[in-house]
Amino acid sequence: MPSRPFSTPLMVMLLHVAAAAQAVWPAPPEPPGNPTTPTKVLLGKALFWDEQLASTNSVACGTCHVFSHGGADPRAPVAVHPGPDGVFGTSDDGRGSPGVPASDRAGSYRWVESFGIAPQITARTAPTVINAAYQVAQFWDGRAEDKEFRDPVTGALVLHSNAFLENQIAEPPLSAIEMGHPGRDWQDVVTAIVAAPPLALASRVPAPLAAFVAGRTYPQLFDLAFGSPGVDASRTVMAIAAYMRTLVADESPIDRFLQGRGPFPQRASPGFVEFGVHCSQCHKDLSNFSVVSGPASIDFRNIGVRPIVEDRGRFLVTGRLVDDGRFKSPDLRNVVLRGPFFHNGSARTLNEVLQFYDRGGDFPANRDPLMQQMQGQLPPAIRAAIIAFLGELTDPRVVAELPPFDRPRLFSEGVGRNVVFGQPSVGGVGSPPRVVAVEPPRLGRGFATVAVDGGRPGEHAFLGLDIAAAASPLQFGGIEVLLALTPAATVQYTGRLGRGVGPASGHLSHRVGLPSDPSLAGVELFGQWFLTDPVVPGGLTATRAFRWRLLR
Ligand code: HEC
Ligand code: HEC
Repeated sequence: MPSRPFSTPLMVMLLHVAAAAQAVWPAPPEPPGNPTTPTKVLLGKALFWDEQLASTNSVACGTCHVFSHGGADPRAPVAVHPGPDGVFGTSDDGRGSPGVPASDRAGSYRWVESFGIAPQITARTAPTVINAAYQVAQFWDGRAEDKEFRDPVTGALVLHSNAFLENQIAEPPLSAIEMGHPGRDWQDVVTAIVAAPPLALASRVPAPLAAFVAGRTYPQLFDLAFGSPGVDASRTVMAIAAYMRTLVADESPIDRFLQGRGPFPQRASPGFVEFGVHCSQCHKDLSNFSVVSGPASIDFRNIGVRPIVEDRGRFLVTGRLVDDGRFKSPDLRNVVLRGPFFHNGSARTLNEVLQFYDRGGDFPANRDPLMQQMQGQLPPAIRAAIIAFLGELTDPRVVAELPPFDRPRLFSEGVGRNVVFGQPSVGGVGSPPRVVAVEPPRLGRGFATVAVDGGRPGEHAFLGLDIAAAASPLQFGGIEVLLALTPAATVQYTGRLGRGVGPASGHLSHRVGLPSDPSLAGVELFGQWFLTDPVVPGGLTATRAFRWRLLR
């Protein structure tokens, strides 16, 4: 094996460790003007876990940032986007997070290339929100930075400094992929919040949060949290930021040791040394262990995950060529819970990450010189040692979702969530039409949108609704009818499929009106789309069916 540069980095690491001993983490930096108070944190927690913040009522911040998955998105392994070439199944495909179906201001879904009318997938993976409060530059490219914060509606200067989290939080509710629609502004978000009964879609709300919400409206909760009435964009963002400043994971075995609160976890010891040699120059976690925050802890590097042209990373923020292809070196606490890894999710496992480092990275343009030094330095035994070390960076409260990582269950995770079932029929276009029913059927909202795509443009579509599903699938002319066809069965809506790009781009979306009678809560409704298709026997195709359980 070639000799490794042992002594210097090891010394540096040991010095860090020595300096760190006994050190307790400082509180995350706070902008003067947004002090972290208990009621504000509770309000932020309600907002973070409320799917009603999305224009479709189907996505919360917490949908993509799940604690038991290390603060990242457990759905990412199967959430594929086609990459810059727009074509699935090619090498630039990436993993991301499902957000909202593309929609317009009126709530109608729009057909978009790659995703049709289904939830769109973000072009990068969701990094962790845990300990993000220590990172003075947010996002993979660091574009939300430590600077002033201006109200997104009025432009008024609200916070003078330290507002990197506030600047980050201002983005997702407006993103037409994550939570919004093109043209959504913060006034729209505020209007949605004012109309939403807090956490109406959530279940298993932790007791302190339930006691805070206790049937109150959001305006009442804002009043409690800020000491004066008024829901606005700045307050919304500041409450969520205050909550995020409580998401501090400093209880991993390694952190406990470094703070003088626990023994050194022996199984981590060989990996600890190897990490110091190979990884700590970029992942300044070792110095983070003591100091945790500060601009020095943010390190943007190009390690050659993908060709620069696909995502120029930090360059997009600074415009400096040295930053081409650079991304933030992420905090590795709780990393064993996360994955897939890297900004595009290209490494499925930590072993794949380490094999990547052992190759010295994949794409040489503008690559960090440290990567070449790493080539061939990480044989299986060293990889295993480093992975064992990373395992000791896990805070048990994160795994078990214990305070401060306790949380409500989302609608999309609950027993009453929308369920899609049965088999679709294959249409003459060669693939089955698809139903999208992601919106919660909340009576108090008065409607929920369901949509279909994968049909022939210009053909007709019928949405059937019934109060029962067939005990076993009924076959009519080769299509599976999952509605029971009780006398209550109705054709709720008939329309013509719109045209996207391609022969199977026919699509339609419909806002199903719901009665405002709260006594209907708990009632189940079943629905299915039927599409005319001249090429198939019987002239019809059908999607799978969906079940709604009506909510107050
Ligand atoms: C649809 C999924 C999705 C939703 C919803 C979402 N995020 Fe994210 N989040 C992401 C992705 C993807 C990124 C990385 C984007 C990038 O780097 O360009 C990200 C980045 C972040 C980061 C940066 C972390 C770091 O280390 O740089 C924070 C903090 C964060 N999100 C918090 C939130 C909050 C708060 C909300 C709700 C207001 C929210 N997210 C809603 C997917 C989501
Ligand atoms: C030259 C700087 C550098 C070195 C050395 C380095 N890393 Fe990284 N690491 C990064 C950057 C930058 C990223 C994000 C890259 C991206 O997504 O494009 C990253 C990402 C990761 C990730 C993925 C985290 C996530 O949430 O997706 C893991 C795990 C990781 N590194 C572990 C290691 C380990 C273990 C070592 C030592 C063997 C190491 N790194 C060495 C800079 C470095």
